Amino acid sequence: MHSIEKIRAAHPAPFYIYDGSILSEQASILHKTFPAFDILFSIKANPFPPLLKKMASLGIGADAASAKEVDLALAAGMPAENIYYSCPAPTREDMAQVMGKCHIIADSLYVLSLLEEAAAERNLKLAAGLRIHPDFTTDGTPQAPSKFGIDESIIWETNFIEKYPHLTINGLHIHIRSQVLDTEKLGRYYDTVLDLAVKLQNHLGTKLDYINFGGGIGKVYDKTKQSPLDFGKLQAAVSCSIDKHKGDLSAKLLLESGRFLACDCGTYVTEIIDIKHSHGKTFYIVKNGANGFFKPVLRQMLLPFRHDHMGASYEPFATENDSYDINVLSESTETEVVDIAGHLCSGADIMAKNVVVKKGHIGDLVTFNHAGSYAYSLAPLLFASQPMPQQFFIE
Ligand SMILES: Cc1ncc(COP(=O)(O)O)c(C=O)c1O
Repeated sequence: MHSIEKIRAAHPAPFYIYDGSILSEQASILHKTFPAFDILFSIKANPFPPLLKKMASLGIGADAASAKEVDLALAAGMPAENIYYSCPAPTREDMAQVMGKCHIIADSLYVLSLLEEAAAERNLKLAAGLRIHPDFTTDGTPQAPSKFGIDESIIWETNFIEKYPHLTINGLHIHIRSQVLDTEKLGRYYDTVLDLAVKLQNHLGTKLDYINFGGGIGKVYDKTKQSPLDFGKLQAAVSCSIDKHKGDLSAKLLLESGRFLACDCGTYVTEIIDIKHSHGKTFYIVKNGANGFFKPVLRQMLLPFRHDHMGASYEPFATENDSYDINVLSESTETEVVDIAGHLCSGADIMAKNVVVKKGHIGDLVTFNHAGSYAYSLAPLLFASQPMPQQFFIE
């Protein structure tokens, strides 16, 4: 609270505050659970440069989804060998921009052909990872078509790699689920990926340099509905899988995380700029709702349509069981039930409905937690040309 008031004294709301000590705590959980792994931060979750610098200082590398994210990672001090570029559909220009700055992972046969072309032009052999869309899923359900990666069945075609004589396939990347909170399923997933890596090595006849297991580490958004992963159990399961495969694999093991590392470090702070009463309802109108922190607004929009599988397919725009602690920083001892609405000309710009909060007044601040990942980077900040939220990093 102290930092919020300090920042507010010098800067108008809305703003984001990111707390570096929480990042350190989250990183240390991953480092302890996965001592044999390199941890990568999915920059799309939060590309704020001071936060990336902090990640670099914690020894965390980058999962970069664009050429710009590769540059952000390098500028933050992450070494090129810890930066992995994996974009669902990079262009020839993107490729030219990232070449030599990081590891490159091909997401399609077309991307492999672009890399082959670039390597042939330069008369050199290029290393490339493969993002594979595996035949398995995290929860044992049948696999579905996907716009991501290369279908596993294509990889097993006998002449697959002969089409790319200037490429050496040196890495495997799989990412099929975010926000997994089932420890056993996650443990089984890592084991299955290792099996696939061995099969891939045998098929290619070369050793892989890295195996990137993608994201998946879930975090609790709603304590009433979710329980955290059991990291002790997960560590035991993963170390058992690694032991089982260690005779076959010498690759670096990589994990990507956006939300687990960064979500809890962020708070969004906005301000009540009007209070309206309409047909028995009280609205606190705040600065920059959807055009500041979009995820709570998306949640309200999607609630009527939610079904069991929405969380997986709509990630990271909408997260199953998404939930926010909302606090009105008011002196009042009374509470009231209100809707919190943004100031855009859209009836959908509602951040919370029927929440019980401290009775607020115009000028009071309102805070939302869970604002460190997919928050600033996901919001339609340009809509209506309102001033954008500022961002602050504190330790
Ligand atoms: C390829 C890839 N890896 C990792 C992540 C990070 O996922 P999470 O934020 O759930 O950790 C994402 C998120 O969209 C992703 O697309």
